[in-house]
Amino acid sequence: MPESAVEVWSERAPAWRRWQHEFAVQYRGATELVAHAVRPAPGTRVLDLACATGDLTQALACAVGPAGRVTAVDLAPAMLAGAAERLRRAAHTNVCLYQADAQALPFAAGVFDAVVCRLAITLFPDAARALRECRRVLKPGGRLAVLAWGPPQRNTLFAVRTVLAYHATPEAAAGLPDPLRFARPGALTAALRAAGFAAAGAIDALQPPARRAPGRRTGRRIRRRAEPYGR
Ligand SMILES: C[S@@+](CC[C@H](N)C(=O)[O-])C[C@H]1O[C@@H](n2cnc3c(N)ncnc32)[C@H](O)[C@@H]1O
Repeated sequence: MPESAVEVWSERAPAWRRWQHEFAVQYRGATELVAHAVRPAPGTRVLDLACATGDLTQALACAVGPAGRVTAVDLAPAMLAGAAERLRRAAHTNVCLYQADAQALPFAAGVFDAVVCRLAITLFPDAARALRECRRVLKPGGRLAVLAWGPPQRNTLFAVRTVLAYHATPEAAAGLPDPLRFARPGALTAALRAAGFAAAGAIDALQPPARRAPGRRTGRRIRRRAEPYGR
């Protein structure tokens, strides 16, 4: 039985690496939503929090261009190895990968133009601390986009999972947080305000089913909330 977040996510890393193309197709709408929220301009510095195998990281690396820099962190070394391989294959040289905990970032204050966190904020045991860290490392006027799962009745993936019972999952066994804890409308907004983010804008996004991924159906209707914030 897995005992920690590192072990849980390290065990999942081979599947994330194997299915990375399918994930990229499935999450294309989420990638566009997050990137649009922070508007990463060429030459800017962006932090991708809990990057896994680097799907969003790669999109950001393209957006900031050779004069910009993407810093991507994840807790699981096996996920970072997948990201490194993917970025090497795509010949991106403007990305730095770090093994780090989102709740205690190893970066100086005020160094990033934008911070993004796609579908991972619910995984941090102390999400409030992670959001305060986001604010600390952002430049004044920098932007944060956080994407979290919406309510299960509008979210096929987690509706099934909720029926199966969260308490039977490895996350619960490992004492990890409930992945739907920010699903209630306003919950993420409140957490962002509490972390000191001032300007607020919440978007409800319904991603249409992915058209097709080679050899496999991956389409699902997934309700998400995206909340772009300015420091
Ligand atoms: C559901 S995946 C999200 C991946 C990515 N953001 C995306 O949208 O494709 C969750 C990732 O969060 C990482 N993670 C979990 N807890 C973390 C923490 N405290 N700090 C940094 N990364 C963490 C896991 O290792 C895993 O790669």
